[in-house]
Amino acid sequence: MKQLYVKVGLLSAAMLLVWTGMACAETPNLAPRKIEIKRGYTPEAAKCIECHAEKTPGIIEDWKLGKMGHAGVSCYDCHIVEKDSPMASQCSGLKGTKLFISPMVSSKTCERCHPTEVAEFHKSAHSDLSRMAIYDKKKAGGKLVALQLQHEGAGFLGVETDSAINEASRKSGCTFCHGSEVEVGPDNKPINSSWPAGVGTLYPDGSVGTCTVCHTRHQFSVAEARKPEACASCHLGPDHPDIEIYLESKHGQRYLNQLSLYKSYRQRSRNAR
Ligand code: HEC
Ligand code: HEC
Ligand code: HEC
Ligand code: HEC
Ligand code: HEC
Ligand code: HEC
Repeated sequence: MKQLYVKVGLLSAAMLLVWTGMACAETPNLAPRKIEIKRGYTPEAAKCIECHAEKTPGIIEDWKLGKMGHAGVSCYDCHIVEKDSPMASQCSGLKGTKLFISPMVSSKTCERCHPTEVAEFHKSAHSDLSRMAIYDKKKAGGKLVALQLQHEGAGFLGVETDSAINEASRKSGCTFCHGSEVEVGPDNKPINSSWPAGVGTLYPDGSVGTCTVCHTRHQFSVAEARKPEACASCHLGPDHPDIEIYLESKHGQRYLNQLSLYKSYRQRSRNAR
């Protein structure tokens, strides 16, 4: 008997569901819908996105394509700094607020969420060693610094060590790959040509490392960093023809060949649609 009651109960519950379903189906709502996805941004974080979507649309588009954009890691998470940071400034949208930002973002910021990757990075020569290769006055008996300042920088013609002319060869010739020591102006903003720079860059707060050399901002794509091309902007040329050697090798030939096969396959399947 008890079992029967349960059955009848279940049956009427099921019928009720069918009935409500039908009731809804009778009056379909086909009005235009606005899909809003709330990812739990604070009002301050949402403001950066809203205004920058107008002022710097390229950055927003790029950010939206990346996994961090999808995961809700926003401008706020990477660009906000303490008021007393040597890098603290305010963009025009933040004047009059208590929020301070920096256009400079080093590995220290990424470390908050990616401690393992940052620790590994600091063990590699891409970190401090990379910058020291061009800044260390003792390296190669001082010959490398002399190369930049004395010979290429025209020190031998009497150009002073700290002058713009003297620094030009170091900046254009070495720091874009190896990293710089970022200098800031009185407004705490980076001085052009000392930032942005290469992989081992030393930031004004003492932190080291530009993670974007391999996974470019603001998409920060792992797929991009895995490609040989991601290394080619630095690992090329007569001193270290790594990309040239690779692309001429059997491995590189296979890579290029597979890539073009893959592309033509994609093209064909698109055309077939
Ligand atoms: C995952 C961290 C991260 C997020 C999220 C992020 N940025 Fe950045 N942003 C960076 C890094 C890294 C750089 C380059 C800094 C460097 O080389 O020191 C940068 C540089 C910039 C610059 C300077 C560009 C230039 O060349 O002068 C602007 C402007 C900027 N970001 C705006 C934004 C805006 C707006 C958002 C939100 C949509 C955003 N960023 C989100 C990490 C981030
Ligand atoms: C009302 C508009 C507006 C808002 C809100 C806004 N910004 Fe900006 N931001 C700008 C504009 C415009 C620029 C271009 C440079 C300037 O005018 O200062 C800029 C520049 C920047 C830069 C580059 C600074 C430099 O010195 O090169 C960063 C980084 C940045 N904003 C991050 C943020 C973050 C993070 C937030 C939220 C906490 C935010 N912005 C909120 C309008 C805004
Ligand atoms: C507030 C936390 C946070 C900060 C700060 C942060 N990340 Fe991330 N990052 C994440 C999360 C969460 C994911 C994973 C997203 C996913 O897998 O869906 C991620 C994923 C990534 C990925 C993998 C992307 C891919 O294509 O698979 C890279 C690369 C990355 N972050 C680099 C950086 C760099 C470089 C910085 C500093 C400039 C940084 N992150 C700062 C939280 C953060
Ligand atoms: C196009 C990018 C690029 C430029 C520009 C560049 N380098 Fe390098 N440099 C590299 C790469 C990549 C390596 C690592 C080569 C390897 O290990 O195969 C390297 C290696 C070195 C090394 C050996 C590493 C070490 O710690 O002893 C020194 C020294 C060096 N570079 C000095 C300089 C100087 C000085 C300049 C400027 C006159 C300069 N480089 C310009 C990319 C560059
Ligand atoms: C020399 C190039 C290079 C630099 C510099 C670099 N990365 Fe990467 N990163 C890569 C490559 C390549 C991968 C993909 C590795 C793989 O295939 O698993 C990667 C993967 C990642 C991932 C995803 C890891 C996972 O398991 O999904 C994160 C997060 C990341 N990097 C963060 C950083 C941070 C933070 C920095 C700065 C300290 C940084 N990377 C600097 C090349 C680089
Ligand atoms: C922004 C420039 C830059 C990019 C991009 C870059 N490198 Fe480097 N790499 C350097 C410099 C500079 C050195 C020399 C560091 C030193 O020894 O002083 C170096 C050294 C190395 C070394 C030898 C040092 C070590 O830690 O063992 C390896 C291996 C290497 N890079 C691999 C890669 C790979 C793989 C990629 C791409 C995923 C890549 N690099 C992308 C600049 C770069």
